[in-house]
Amino acid sequence: MQIIDLLRQRMAAALQRMADESSLSPSMSSMSADEIASYANMVRPTTDSRHGDYQANCAMPMAKAFGSNPRGIADQVVTLLSVADICEPPAIAGPGFINLRLRDDYLTAGVATLLNDSRLGVTPIAKPQTVVIDYSGPNVAKPMHVGHIRSTVIGDALASVLRFLGDRVITDNHLGDWGTQFGMIIYGYKHFGDDVALQAAPVAELSRLYRLVNRLIEYHASLAGLSAARDAVDLTQSAVELAQRSLAAASDPKLVKPAEKLLHAAQKKLQNATEQWEKLTAAIAAIKGDPAMNQVAESHAEIRSAVLEETAKLHEGDVANLELWQRFLPACKDEINRVYARLKIKFDYTLGESFYHPQLPGVVAKLRADGLAVDSDGAVCVFMPEFDSPMIVQKRDGAFLYATTDLATLEYRREQFAADEILYVVDSRQSEHFEKLFAVAKKMGFSATRLVHVQFGTVLGSDGKPFKTRSGTSIGLESLLDDAVARALAVVCDPGRTNRIDPPLTDAEQQEIASVVGHGAIKYADLSHHRSSDYKFDLEKMVALDGNTSAYVQYAYARVQGILTRGNTTETQIRQSQPTLLISHSAERAMMLQLLRLGESLEQVRADYAPNFLVDYLYETAKLYAVFNDACPVLKADDASLVSSRLALVAATGQVIRTGLQLLGIDVVTRM
Ligand code: ARG
Repeated sequence: MQIIDLLRQRMAAALQRMADESSLSPSMSSMSADEIASYANMVRPTTDSRHGDYQANCAMPMAKAFGSNPRGIADQVVTLLSVADICEPPAIAGPGFINLRLRDDYLTAGVATLLNDSRLGVTPIAKPQTVVIDYSGPNVAKPMHVGHIRSTVIGDALASVLRFLGDRVITDNHLGDWGTQFGMIIYGYKHFGDDVALQAAPVAELSRLYRLVNRLIEYHASLAGLSAARDAVDLTQSAVELAQRSLAAASDPKLVKPAEKLLHAAQKKLQNATEQWEKLTAAIAAIKGDPAMNQVAESHAEIRSAVLEETAKLHEGDVANLELWQRFLPACKDEINRVYARLKIKFDYTLGESFYHPQLPGVVAKLRADGLAVDSDGAVCVFMPEFDSPMIVQKRDGAFLYATTDLATLEYRREQFAADEILYVVDSRQSEHFEKLFAVAKKMGFSATRLVHVQFGTVLGSDGKPFKTRSGTSIGLESLLDDAVARALAVVCDPGRTNRIDPPLTDAEQQEIASVVGHGAIKYADLSHHRSSDYKFDLEKMVALDGNTSAYVQYAYARVQGILTRGNTTETQIRQSQPTLLISHSAERAMMLQLLRLGESLEQVRADYAPNFLVDYLYETAKLYAVFNDACPVLKADDASLVSSRLALVAATGQVIRTGLQLLGIDVVTRM
């Protein structure tokens, strides 16, 4: 059991006894098990080590609830609390905080056990679940960009952590292999295709076709939307003027603030409208300024509906389109598989949208039969009072939708995988889709399976807008990975640094380090933010040796290996020597406590589906290790028993960092 859980358990036992025999307040005897658990869970790690290692903060809220004084409650809790085998005698501080400091012999024994445990002292969770994790799911045939990496990296880390904690995890890549993007490349191929290029470099040719068709569609959409965009600018401009006038007229000082707020909001809207109008104007100008393109654009005025038609034909089983789809799909998969190979991502299943296509008519029929779906304006819809708009499951032209496929997928997963829980690691911009999906699923009786939208924010460029290159296309994922590796080579294998490494790094080693650090940096940076927040993509910061970066943590690991090498020993030898651990310095103690808290961070990851808790933990571990390294000589420690103890601590640190990074999908190197 994690230390924190053990302490909470002991606390719950103390509170239970208090409820059973309370002399303080009769109302305490009515405490429910839930109340006891929630008070017990108020045991938290301290933020300041002067207050001990953990702190129990339940006395204050209990005093409020039971009309007693907090110090009195704290006193009674401490009398009933049985933790002598784990902690020093608890101390009460301030209004009634109970400070718990772990015993040194508890820490040393814990680390000795960790050293010889492949699970590093992390106990499996009490109630393992069958969890299906739906992640990555890119729409293939479109070029991949950095946004795609979030789902992939977060999903992969969650899968590893949950597995490590004992859940039965099934990963499933819900590939977008059947959508409009295929209509686009089919249309593109039929009108602009180049068979020779397709033979020679299929991915490049398909991506050219995709971009071309996309550009033409955007051009026509921009033309169509231009006057409305102009109107929006005029309208918001008037709103700004109005707001300016009312601000000027605000005589009462109390009215100034709200008027300023109004003006601010109006200005923001004007800015957005202007940007939108400029975007459309630029898209139009780009085509108009290119006579050849302009001619192409004019002769494909109906391209949008034509593309939808190609998609519909594919879905209806049109032989020619199906053949093209079958011809294009392998190239599309190759591209994405190359990225997966670089990132070392694997799935148990890759059941893309096309896999469910035959199921879709049945899904709609069942929804109708159950009275959940009705005809509306020729389309088939599920109306739900809690949503403004219905979930459409079949369009008027007979086409099925993303939502229909997701319902079929749900049915399949329930039958095949007996999932307790399904996690959808998908962009937060799809939250409405999932809210509706989950609501319909509930109506269909999927109550035994917990459905969770594990949503994440957007990757932003330095301008705070979704990350794009100057030309407006999202940055290709592979070139981005290449950049990260190149940067890692420059930063980590800079001669000024590597000169100090003995024996010198060979070229091959340097390439390996750059690859491990570069790929690690991209993953780590993504995982280091709470998934729900947006973050700015900043390669320079990501591939730095200092700060909360993969390189910093990887470097700590390399230092560990350096000490073992210089000490002419290995992790295995250290383990086999069954060393006795000693605490002679506060930095050693802090390091030991930290190592014993790996499981705590993993449980936080699991509770919130948020890998950043593990990242934070590893960063903290690496920082404490740097402090330890500065304060405590290892090979030159005062006596042999201290050398052996510190070597054991160093080895245990290496195990924890390596395992932690691996759970995040990040590799380590032994020298850097
Ligand atoms: N292909 C979708 C997209 O790129 C993501 C799929 C997520 N999974 C799901 N079951 N809907 O937006």
